[in-house]
Amino acid sequence: MAVRAPADRVRQRGGMDFSGKHVVVTGGSSGIGLAAALEFASFGASLSLIARDRQKLDTAASRIARLNSRVAVAAADVSDEQAVCAAIAGLTAQSGPCDVLVTSAGITYPGYFEQLDAKVFRQMMDVDYFGTLYPIQAVIPSMMSRRAGSIVAISSAAGLVGVFGYTAYAASKFAVRGLLDSLRQEMTPYGIHVGVAYPPDTDTPMLRYENEFKPLETRKIAGAIRPVSAERVAKAIVNGVRRRRRVITADPLTALLYRAGGLIEPLLTADFNRKVRQARRERGAG
Ligand SMILES: NC(=O)c1ccc[n+]([C@@H]2O[C@H](COP(=O)([O-])OP(=O)(O)OC[C@H]3O[C@@H](n4cnc5c(N)ncnc54)[C@H](OP(=O)(O)O)[C@@H]3O)[C@@H](O)[C@H]2O)c1
Repeated sequence: MAVRAPADRVRQRGGMDFSGKHVVVTGGSSGIGLAAALEFASFGASLSLIARDRQKLDTAASRIARLNSRVAVAAADVSDEQAVCAAIAGLTAQSGPCDVLVTSAGITYPGYFEQLDAKVFRQMMDVDYFGTLYPIQAVIPSMMSRRAGSIVAISSAAGLVGVFGYTAYAASKFAVRGLLDSLRQEMTPYGIHVGVAYPPDTDTPMLRYENEFKPLETRKIAGAIRPVSAERVAKAIVNGVRRRRRVITADPLTALLYRAGGLIEPLLTADFNRKVRQARRERGAG
């Protein structure tokens, strides 16, 4: 079977051309980050992936290389400013300045507030918030001098509305939105696109991990809604970069929540509270 060159694939798939563009994805070894990296690669981009586990990075890189895309990896912890800045410096020296940055590295730890140590809150901020901030700081000077570039951070539907069990996680995801929405106003004069993605529950290793221990109330709130696929979120991200979207959603409910949040939040919270009462009855809580 003949291997189709990236340009052919681009023509076949609606002219979305990222060939020659350098896309850096933190958390690119798994879940949404990996799916986004594969999607960008399918449109001809050159990829750089950052995460901690070298083996997972190498496995992800070989999947991307199979799409005939150039790919480089660097192992670094995004909450370590020096390490992640050094990783980005190395990757841009190798593959050119960063045209698109997607900050998908993240962690979650749901639980009852009174049982969560302050350490957990700090860890969420370190990885989910500062781990978003540091890579952005690393690429912004070059984007500003080139007056071009695109930055997409991954917040969450839990970055739009408070959810039982996510006191630590949601706080970091609300913070990501505050950072990016303010940054956008500063970067608009430089022609730099700044977008925020708000995925709903997405079928990834992270969701499978938290499902093992999250409070019954949190599970009831998620209810029967089927998680979306990482590929669906990835397509929304790539399309969001192409169309320079400020707000990137992958499902109608989150899109509605973003647009009409103030109006529907009381209804949503009332529904959440009903589910919380039901869960408390089920687990015999006083
Ligand atoms: N899945 C969902 O339901 C959902 C919903 C809304 C938003 N999100 C957000 O989407 C993003 C991606 O989540 P996912 O579901 O794709 O999770 P995932 O499959 O667990 O992937 C997380 C990625 O981040 C990397 N990572 C974690 N901690 C890191 C650190 N300290 N430094 C560098 N890399 C780190 C992981 O690799 P290593 O462990 O090797 O470092 C992995 O590549 C997160 O920001 C998450 O909060 C997820």
